[in-house]
Amino acid sequence: MPLTSDTVRLAALADLHYSKSGTTALQPLFEQIAESADALMLCGDLTDYGLADEARMLAKDLAPVKIPIVAVLGNHDYEANQEREIVQILSDAGAHMLDGDTWEFRGVGFAGVRGFCGGFGRGALAAWGEKIIKDFVHEAVQEALKLEAALARLTLPQRIVLMHYAPIRDTVEGEPAEIYPFLGSSRLEDPLSRFEVTAVFHGHAHKGAPEGRTQTGIPVYNVSYKVLKTNYADRPPFRLFEVRPLQTGDTGVTPIGERVWARRATDHGPAA
Ligand SMILES: [Fe+2]
Ligand SMILES: [Fe+2]
Repeated sequence: MPLTSDTVRLAALADLHYSKSGTTALQPLFEQIAESADALMLCGDLTDYGLADEARMLAKDLAPVKIPIVAVLGNHDYEANQEREIVQILSDAGAHMLDGDTWEFRGVGFAGVRGFCGGFGRGALAAWGEKIIKDFVHEAVQEALKLEAALARLTLPQRIVLMHYAPIRDTVEGEPAEIYPFLGSSRLEDPLSRFEVTAVFHGHAHKGAPEGRTQTGIPVYNVSYKVLKTNYADRPPFRLFEVRPLQTGDTGVTPIGERVWARRATDHGPAA
């Protein structure tokens, strides 16, 4: 399909787990992303222990990346109670940090939340019994409500959602079944369907599956770094998508990494 001027290329990645040990040096990867995409989506677990120092290391590596960045936090980013500082550091570095917020870029609307866990479908934890169980479920409900409120504010027809936890079971498959309830929540799926979202990106399930769909057919992509390393060993560990103007019967977003990297491997030409 020929590219049009209003086609937007989005790169997606999650679970960077930047650590003070200095073993997470992704600057070359970020430079590769900047050459290939118009914007970068980061879907949480940006740091390993939730330390501001880890966020500073990430911000330093992101500094040469001149394309816009939009991101949500993950559970690891909360570990040291320094999440506000992490948001500030990454915002100062130019990233659009979403927590029930929206961002618009070249005609595409973005909404982002961290999300929460609690399980999927008939196995989802219900708000019943002890207060602590109700509080746990309440957190997932609150995240779903935040997402719903953000989507309600977006007026553009192309709506992309970033979250850290999975909204469906399909993209956590591959993980041990015992931990499915801690990898996401079906409660996050309802707002996606109600607002007919174009596509959803998440991380958290490092051993999950790269793609799935909501019950209404919305594509869901698990872009966890390790998922990409495992499933797309022939290309750099980020996914690349083309977002097009909506047409009848068109989901509006297409993965193009395979096409781009295959072309580069054969002709060593410029980015497709
Ligand atoms: Fe993670
Ligand atoms: Fe996580």
